[in-house]
Amino acid sequence: MCNNLINIVILAAGKGTRMCSNLPKVLHKLAGKYIVEYVIDVAKEINKDKIYIVYGFKGELLKQYLNDSSINWILQDKQLGTGHAVAQVLPYLHDNEKLLILYGDVPLISKETLERLFSIQPNDGIGLLTVISDNPNGYGRIIRNNGIITEIIEHKDIINDQYLNITEINTGIMIANVRKLRYWLKNITNENAQKEFYLTDIVKIAYQDNCFIQSASPVNLYEIKGVNNCIQLANVERIYQNIQAEILMLSGVTIFDPNRFDLRGTLICGIDVEIDTNVIIEEHVILGNRVKIGSGCIIKNSFIGDDCNIYPYSVISNSNLSIKCKVGPFSHFRNNVKLDKNSCIGNFVEMKNVSLGKSSKAKHLSYLGDAIIGANVNIGAGTITCNYDGKNKLNTVIGNNVFIGACSQLVAPLDISENVTIAAGTTVLKDVKNKNLVLNPKKQIHKKDWKRPSER
Ligand code: UD1
Ligand code: CA
Repeated sequence: MCNNLINIVILAAGKGTRMCSNLPKVLHKLAGKYIVEYVIDVAKEINKDKIYIVYGFKGELLKQYLNDSSINWILQDKQLGTGHAVAQVLPYLHDNEKLLILYGDVPLISKETLERLFSIQPNDGIGLLTVISDNPNGYGRIIRNNGIITEIIEHKDIINDQYLNITEINTGIMIANVRKLRYWLKNITNENAQKEFYLTDIVKIAYQDNCFIQSASPVNLYEIKGVNNCIQLANVERIYQNIQAEILMLSGVTIFDPNRFDLRGTLICGIDVEIDTNVIIEEHVILGNRVKIGSGCIIKNSFIGDDCNIYPYSVISNSNLSIKCKVGPFSHFRNNVKLDKNSCIGNFVEMKNVSLGKSSKAKHLSYLGDAIIGANVNIGAGTITCNYDGKNKLNTVIGNNVFIGACSQLVAPLDISENVTIAAGTTVLKDVKNKNLVLNPKKQIHKKDWKRPSER
């Protein structure tokens, strides 16, 4: 089928009362992305030029957050039901086209499933996505007569108890011809349990109109899961995370426990990568060959070179690590950190806007900000770059082979040349020349046989 003729409407006007939230339901996040974005992405794979979103509750927020000019926004002022929602789009469509109906809160639907639906849609009839469910509670039931679909009855409208036992349910997703939809939707009413104009009522009307209703089932059952409350959101999140973890594991990544792995973006891995439990990957991350990520690390938008070892509970954002670096445990790369090969950053070291030369080390308890640091530099424990004067961020430059003693303060702007030695506990206020030693004169007093105060 030619996808050019397919328009796609995404229903997203509902408030999502059961989320108990101030945000529209579809703006809640699934793996770091708005729920509705998944639906938009699959719609774009089908026909990116004809996507309509029916919005209502806090719709301005929806437009603002998504900021996507390729979408046609259709306001449904009052949420009078799914049939009424679809009717809002029809004035913009041509009779000879088709309309695929998707739900903003059903994010895992795949293109392959939708293609199944397109292939079974009868001429002038309806292609309906249905599933057999062990727990049909709450869903619309598919009524068949000698195998032919004749009607959908919403759970709340079931009066005949035998219908409650029907396990084939309506997913809500369907495709039909625009010309027919106009006619069918004109004929639905809101005489039902919820006083709503149900989209599902077109099925009976189509049947009476001698049009066929054919069903297809999704490639994977999880695809039709909807998000109506925070439990379902967590459930869909886990399903999605497991899918992502499986793809990575099948490509050779060792994930110690896929149930404790979260990818909120994209992850590209080299060979023999190991990811321990409770790791979170955000935005776009690349891990080189043989990289090991320890438990509890959060890595966002960063590149980590071959053979790097990131020890537990390190947080790395917007950074770039060359090969064979060691980081953590408990290191924090706040933004724009570049490590050259073989460098080593240890516990409780925070870095921001720093480049560190090869084989340099800062192994304990430091803050390094706005600094360019050469190769083979040793930064002693407790060293701090004083990079802020209260108004401005100021730079520190440290040459190759510099040794900085523990607990030094480097007051920026500062230029420390190569081969300099800074004694422990020095406050460095002025630039330092090649090979110099810097220390602060401190008079040391030793009092003999000192008696500590006794309790009064
Ligand atoms: C709907 C189906 C039901 C199906 C179920 C699958 C109808 C009448 N029922 O029920 O057969 O089993 O989905 O999940 O269609 N919306 C609007 N405007 C409205 C009302 C709803 O845009 O006036 C949107 C909602 O934001 C939501 C979607 O339509 O994204 C579905 O609405 P909802 O009220 O959740 O329908 P269900 O009761 O789940
Ligand atoms: Ca729903």
